[in-house]
Amino acid sequence: MNIILIGYMGSGKSTIGKKLSQILDFEYVDLDNYIEEKEKNTISGIFKTKGEIYFRKIEKKYLEEVLRLPNSVISLGGGTPCYGDNMKLITEAEDSKSVYLKASIPQLVMRLKDEKNKRPLISHLKSEEQLVEFIGKHLFERSVFYNQSNVTLSVDNKSVNSIVEEVILQLF
Ligand code: S3P
Repeated sequence: MNIILIGYMGSGKSTIGKKLSQILDFEYVDLDNYIEEKEKNTISGIFKTKGEIYFRKIEKKYLEEVLRLPNSVISLGGGTPCYGDNMKLITEAEDSKSVYLKASIPQLVMRLKDEKNKRPLISHLKSEEQLVEFIGKHLFERSVFYNQSNVTLSVDNKSVNSIVEEVILQLF
């Protein structure tokens, strides 16, 4: 069985994914890292040299690859479910469950404000106010995809351990 973690940038997909995979003794795959290894470039580097359209194209190709892996916890990128028919691929993937890690705007702003550099979509935003406005609009647009997940879990003010526990309780 595969567990697919979905959520906005900064929602904790990687941290939760790693811990969950250890507890379940599953493989852990982070789609962003997978892309970086395959392309021998960082996500920021790919955006800079080849542009976002190229990134979305290869993101889909590598999504299809990771969905075929056995017994894995897979953390997607924040935008992965929101392009082309990716969310359809995710929901129709065999023997897999998707989990939306739902964080509020203030919580995302808090987590992302000092980490903008690694994230090409928000690295140009200067003030916290701009970040609040951007995330608000962007999250609203993306929620329609995120909300198609099998399970939605609020992550605000919860510890990693309690989120992992909740995921397990919901899925097994
Ligand atoms: C993106 C999120 C990033 C990465 C890329 C684009 C997005 O992943 O895939 O920078 O569109 O939200 P994280 O959610 O792991 O930061």
